[in-house]
Amino acid sequence: MALERTFSILKPDATQRNVTGAINALIEAAGLKIVAQKRIQMSLGEARRFYAVHKERPFFGELVDFMVSAPVVVQVLEGENAIAKYREVMGATNPAQAADGTIRKQFALSVGENSVHGSDSADNAKLEIAQFFSENEIISG
Ligand code: CMP
Repeated sequence: MALERTFSILKPDATQRNVTGAINALIEAAGLKIVAQKRIQMSLGEARRFYAVHKERPFFGELVDFMVSAPVVVQVLEGENAIAKYREVMGATNPAQAADGTIRKQFALSVGENSVHGSDSADNAKLEIAQFFSENEIISG
C-alpha cells in the first residue's frame, strides 16, 4: 500500500455551522493525518479555476457562488491510500445516497452544500494541493 496525499476542502456550509472540528474528528478517526490546514476566503477566480472541469455543467455558477459565500478550510490529508480512503469517509456526493457513518451522511445539507470536497485521483490531488499550498506548508510526521 502506498502512502498518499489528498486534498480536502471543508466547505462554507461546514464553516458556517461550526462543524469543522467534528468533521476533522471523523477524518482523524479514519487514520488520515491532517498534515496542512488553513482557513481561507476563496476568491471567484480561485473557485472557477478549482472547478474548471465542471465549467460546462448547469450547476457551475451555483457551485462557484457557494464556494465563495463564506470561508472554507483547505487541507492536505496523508495516509495509506488516502485518496480512496477519504472518498469513502466523505460518502456519496449526494447526501441522500451517502452511507451511514460518512461525513456527508452526518453533515451535508444537499448535493451542493455537501460539506466536503476530496480529490478523485492522484493526478488531481497533486494539482489541487499545488493550487492552495506550497510544499513548505505541508508538515508530515
Ligand atoms: P465536489 O466533490 O466538491 O465536486 C464537484 C461539486 O459539484 C460536488 O462536490 C457538488 O457539491 C457539486 N455538485 C454536483 N452536482 C450538483 C448539482 N446538481 N447541483 C449543485 N452542485 C452540484
